[in-house]
This record gives sequence, C-alpha cells and structure tokens, in this order.
Amino acid sequence: MNSTNITEKLTDNVLAAYGNIENPRTQQIMKSLIQHLHGFIKDIQLSEPEWEYAWDFLARMAQFTSKDRNEFLLMADVLGASQLIEIMNHQRPSNSVGYALGGPFYRANAPLRARGTCTASDETTGKRVIITGTVINLADGKPISNATLDVWQAATNGFYENQDPAQPNMNLRGKFKTDDKGTYELIALLPTPYPVPTDGPVGELLRTAKRHPLRPAHIHFVVSAPEHETLVTQVFMADDEIIHTDAVFTASDNMVGNFIKDGDHYRLNYDFQLAEGESICPKAPIP
Ligand SMILES: [Fe+2]
Repeated sequence: MNSTNITEKLTDNVLAAYGNIENPRTQQIMKSLIQHLHGFIKDIQLSEPEWEYAWDFLARMAQFTSKDRNEFLLMADVLGASQLIEIMNHQRPSNSVGYALGGPFYRANAPLRARGTCTASDETTGKRVIITGTVINLADGKPISNATLDVWQAATNGFYENQDPAQPNMNLRGKFKTDDKGTYELIALLPTPYPVPTDGPVGELLRTAKRHPLRPAHIHFVVSAPEHETLVTQVFMADDEIIHTDAVFTASDNMVGNFIKDGDHYRLNYDFQLAEGESICPKAPIP
C-alpha cells in the first residue's frame, strides 16, 4: 500500500468511527470537520515541529482567555471567520444596514437609559455625538415601536470599560427604546479608532502578517424587537480611511454613517431595518 492509500485509509477510519452520531446536524459538522482537517494536514504536509507549535499556540490562546476576554473569538475575528458567518447568515438588500460581527466586547445586561441621555460619564473625554433615527420594518418601511437598541463603544483611550479600571462600570454602554413612532435618540461618544488586543497570540499573528491591529472608529448596535430578527451591526464614519483595512474585515459601505459637525458636538441620523422573524438575541461574550 502506498503512503497516499495509507493516509486515505486513516481518514476513512476516523470518519467511520464518528459515523454513529445521532443528531444529523452534529453528524454533518463532524464529517466535514474531519474531512477538512485531514485535508488541510495533507495539503500542507504538516511537520511534527509545526504541529507542536500549533497545539502550544492554542494552549496560549486559552491562557489569554478569561471571562473578560476571549482570544478564540478575537482570532476568528482577525481571520475574517466571524464576519463571514454574519454575512452568510444574513443576506440583506443592498439599501439596508449590514450585519457586523458582535465582537469580543459585547456585554450582557447593559442599563436601560432614558431617551436622549448619554452613555458616557461626565469625566469621559472626547466629543459627543447626538444620534437620532428610526427603527423600521425591512419589508414595508413601517416604524417599529418599543424596539431596543443595545449600544456600546470604546473610550478615546481605545479601551472598553471592562478593559479599563479608570472607567465607571457600564460606561459607554446602554439600552434605548424606540417610541410609538419608531424613533430613538441617544448621545454617544464620537468614536475613534482603536487596536484589538495584541499582547497575545492574535497579536503575534498580526505582526507576522504585517497587518495593523486597528479597527476603524465605530459604535456597536444590537437592535431587537419582538417578532423581528435581531440586527447586530456597527456604525462607521464615512471619512475614515481605516474602513478599507479593518483588522476584523467588518467595515463596509452598508454600515457607514454621516457624522456632521454641529458646534462643539456632532450629529448622526441613522435608521435601522429589521426583518420579520424570530427574535433571538446573540450571546454576549462578557456575562
Ligand atoms: Fe468595537
């Protein structure tokens, strides 16, 4: 038996060994995973030192993972996998807001804030932006009342509040509701670019690839309403050059807002379209 036949026999044996999984979807996933994993190893003729490097790399990713940080999710982000999953699962008309990866800094249980109030503490440095708009039904354009907008963003030092002991708990996070006309109003911080964390294995990869670690300035939104699919998105700034080299491959033309200077602050008008469907909120990486 030649070496190709031996490796194919091994792959067939492994597939057969996992052939009795009862759940059809789990069975399908395992079959494809084994085929692609074995195919990848054969394709690149993985060496023993490379394999040792790989499992050590994964172990170090685990060491950088805690309740406040998930290095595996960040790795999926910088490899474009997270955004691929969003795009694949949410095909939308080109004139509607696009889906974006939620990212590793989405935190559960942000406080409900009153209409028109600011997510930033008074001490938070940076310009403010007054954001207004309407949440509408994607199919018929009708406003959606009592929708929830869950908003979060980094401070101008590049840190989300959970990364930064100097910020108050839940700073730059909050939930807002639409009124009976489907409109909302809130005040946020004018977003600024920030780097993804580079002190772990993800940083090693970015440096190896000579990629910058920056995310273009953005504000995260999760927009939800009963009997509508939850929209997970980010709003970017029209004149930000980094949009074209986003470290996590998310920024695109269907997520850009027109931030307009108005005296000492900015204004943004931005509508969100929700498709009818089941309302399922994504799992927050930070409990
Ligand atoms: Fe972000």
